[in-house]
Amino acid sequence: MAKLLDHEFDGIQEYDNPIPLWLTSLFGITMVFGLGYALYFPAFPGHSGISGWSAAKQYDEQVAVEEERYAPLRAEAEKKALEALAALTEDQATLDKGHEVFSLRCSPCHGENAEGRVGPNLKDAEWLYGGDAKSVLTSIREGRPKGMPKWKTELGSEDIQNVTAYVLSLSGGSSEAPVAEETPAPEATPEAESAEATSESESATAETQEEASKEGE
Ligand code: HEC
Repeated sequence: MAKLLDHEFDGIQEYDNPIPLWLTSLFGITMVFGLGYALYFPAFPGHSGISGWSAAKQYDEQVAVEEERYAPLRAEAEKKALEALAALTEDQATLDKGHEVFSLRCSPCHGENAEGRVGPNLKDAEWLYGGDAKSVLTSIREGRPKGMPKWKTELGSEDIQNVTAYVLSLSGGSSEAPVAEETPAPEATPEAESAEATSESESATAETQEEASKEGE
């Protein structure tokens, strides 16, 4: 029996028992584990951890996995949305609303009948940036560098949809990618167009180079 300690309180005394061995060992084990853990994961400033794990890396990996999973769904959704937009070019109520937005917001630059002023003619089959639903929608939503404002913050998505359907309906909605090089639109100056062509081919070259350097890695 261990010896009694010589203090007492209200008649209660205590033995001088050692801490049980299992508890002391557990304490030691947790310390060793903690040190290992801290070395394995990034715990100390300037030390990235033996495992190489980081929250940012894990996040990027998970996002990449999800992106891959969602890409086909996104493509499908985009295709449906564009089909719906194409269908709206036949819907008179939509076109009327689109025309209203156009008269208010677009006609100062594109002309009351979209015949072109500062901005290009939107009625013919000649497009600087493509006349398919996706390109026209992008032109309107995101704007274009030479003076076409972006409208995605200015107009609600419904107005954008209506005015896009309206613009698409003006040219029949069936014209394909840019044909401006072949027959220059009268309101677009040749300089502007050749500058356009150069900047496009430049960016195309830059892209090719980028791809080439990626492949080289
Ligand atoms: C401040 C003048 C201005 C206003 C307002 C404006 N645009 Fe434009 N828009 C332009 C100019 C300039 C371009 C040519 C941009 C370029 O060449 O980079 C353009 C280009 C476009 C194009 C691409 C044409 C093509 O040939 O590819 C579309 C589509 C278009 N505008 C639609 C609209 C619609 C719809 C509105 C109204 C919601 C609108 N724009 C309002 C000036 C304007």
